[in-house]
Amino acid sequence: MGYNSEFRRSIDHPEEFWRDQAANINWIRPPETIWQATDNGHGLWFPDGELNTSDVALDANIRAGRGEQTALIYDSPVTDTTRSFTYNELTHQVALFAGVLRDRGVSKGDRVIIYMPMVPEAVIAMLGCARIGAIHSVVFGGFAAHELAVRIDDAKPKALVTASCGIEVAKVIEYKPLVDTAIEQARHKPDCCILFQRPQVTAGMLSGRDYDWSELMASAKPVAPVPVKSTDPLYILYTSGTTGKPKGVVRDNGGHAVALRYSMQLVYNARPGDVYWAASDVGWVVGHSYIVYGPLFAGCTTILYEGKPVKTPDAGAFWRVVQDHKVNMLFTAPTAFRAVRKEDPEADQLSRYDISSLKRLFLAGERLDPATYDWLREQTGLPVLDHWWQTETGWAICCNPVGIELMATKPGSATVPSPGFNVQVVDMEGTQVPAGEQGQIAVKLPLPPGCMMTVWGDDARFRKTYLEPIKGFYTSGDGGFVDDDGYVYVMGRTDDVINVAGHRLSTGEMEEVVASHPAVAECCVVGASDEMKGQIPVGLVLIKDGATIDHDELEEELVDMVREKIGAIACFRRALVVDRLPKTRSGKILRRIIRQIADGEEYAVPSTIDDPTILEDISKQFGR
Ligand code: COA
Ligand code: AMP
Repeated sequence: MGYNSEFRRSIDHPEEFWRDQAANINWIRPPETIWQATDNGHGLWFPDGELNTSDVALDANIRAGRGEQTALIYDSPVTDTTRSFTYNELTHQVALFAGVLRDRGVSKGDRVIIYMPMVPEAVIAMLGCARIGAIHSVVFGGFAAHELAVRIDDAKPKALVTASCGIEVAKVIEYKPLVDTAIEQARHKPDCCILFQRPQVTAGMLSGRDYDWSELMASAKPVAPVPVKSTDPLYILYTSGTTGKPKGVVRDNGGHAVALRYSMQLVYNARPGDVYWAASDVGWVVGHSYIVYGPLFAGCTTILYEGKPVKTPDAGAFWRVVQDHKVNMLFTAPTAFRAVRKEDPEADQLSRYDISSLKRLFLAGERLDPATYDWLREQTGLPVLDHWWQTETGWAICCNPVGIELMATKPGSATVPSPGFNVQVVDMEGTQVPAGEQGQIAVKLPLPPGCMMTVWGDDARFRKTYLEPIKGFYTSGDGGFVDDDGYVYVMGRTDDVINVAGHRLSTGEMEEVVASHPAVAECCVVGASDEMKGQIPVGLVLIKDGATIDHDELEEELVDMVREKIGAIACFRRALVVDRLPKTRSGKILRRIIRQIADGEEYAVPSTIDDPTILEDISKQFGR
């Protein structure tokens, strides 16, 4: 069956289609009902099915005869370590950690926050939660204590799992002081912290609250997978929205397993035994779906890489990993290859390694710029496949469906909608716009399995953000167009979310931090284009009357505040003082125009602006 007929079947007969896909995973109680509508086109997948996600990822592979196959390879240039786990070994470790959690009183439905660097224990902790039906919430290690505190208060975890440190190239980042500060700041207090001591740093422990990972593992008894309902939450993953408060995206167990299993074949054409590498971090959705769950559901070997594309030790790092572990598929964000290209434009490093195992390169997380696309194709001679997705969907909304048929690629396009996603480009009334014209990229409801169920603790926010803006559709927040051949072009966010080096951040959140400075009267943060990181935030600040602070000093203080509150990954390095902010007569800040000025683009002066001369002042500030 070709792409077109598979796509049509998924849209015209979704229940039949997903019933077939559901047969590819191991259920404890196979579902009889495939889809149950709740309201407004939303609903539940496989509501009467029962399974256990760690069983699907691990035990099912052992039963299928893959117990001695490598499940996970940990490659860490920053500690000069490589370690492998077979499916038998990984399952044993996960079963033991499930026992640790149970001994600490964690059970089905309880939340566990995992704040870990890229070490195997992070994967073991996630799967250990899944094994007992606890809901994990992984917080990216680059977030500051305040961000961790916000997530602790929202998820109200019973336990927090962490490590003594992370390693950023040569910089050792102690985690424990961040964890202690976060727990101090949070209103909710987890009952316990389980800490993995790394040799680089030995963290101090708080008696009665903190427990040593290795000691607990030494005395734990392995636990078998606990049956959970398909619709029970597997995890909460926080992502940036337009306000300062991150949204807890809730993913189910059954829909997630079925969708990811399908995506491994459709999007990546992965087979059991293939070596699959997503060069990302477990703290992001790419890490959840394609470092941990997807490859294991598909019986692949997954790579956990604790390093960077450059500087660990050089721009040949990715090619070295491909060679050493005979990687078949490599998935990363375009920014990683922009960094490689910048340091090694002629790809001299590539010629030092044998990358003949590699079949394809997959890119996502931000727009794949044609220059990076061309460079990768020319240098590697491999197909370079862009795909578009979001934390909310958990897998590709648009892809080149290589598992069915490899379609011609078009630079700048994420190719075509994945079966299950009825993608349409519409206006805010839900009317389709003609091919070639830009609009909101939306997905006609219902969404396929694997997508978010709700926002943790705030279903009203879920509906308001995603289902209500365009009736009958899921609003993606991205704008773009479809061409005459049905190829989808994602051009960027239509809201205040920005993408910095493949990391999704909220300008609204940064504005809240900047506005809290005593000398700041008003501010606005926009994402300006950046050659390497895609976008970087720039603040425009209005000083309070009477405040006498030096502008450079203010900028320095604001940069420190954002780093302290959100984290270094925000890359907030510029705050320009302006006399006024451009606004509409109704008081709305004209962010799009500020962005255009920052990028040196042409802009049309809107008729709604209260005073057009402000734009000239801002242009001067940006040196235009
Ligand atoms: N823990 C603590 N700090 C972290 C961190 C982590 N896990 N990840 C990043 N940081 C820090 C960095 O050390 C840096 O700090 P500094 O300002 O003190 O130097 C800051 O956050 C910015 O990091 P980053 O944006 O990653 O910039 P960089 O210059 O260090 O590296 C790239 C640039 C392109 C190499 C890097 O961003 C990269 O590998 N990107 C790939 C993105 C990716 O995997 N995205 C996931 C979605 S697929
Ligand atoms: P995240 O939820 O962190 O994965 O970020 C999702 C956002 O990243 C999307 O809403 C897009 O704005 C952007 N994005 C992801 N993949 C692509 C892609 N292939 N092309 C363009 N933008 C992308």
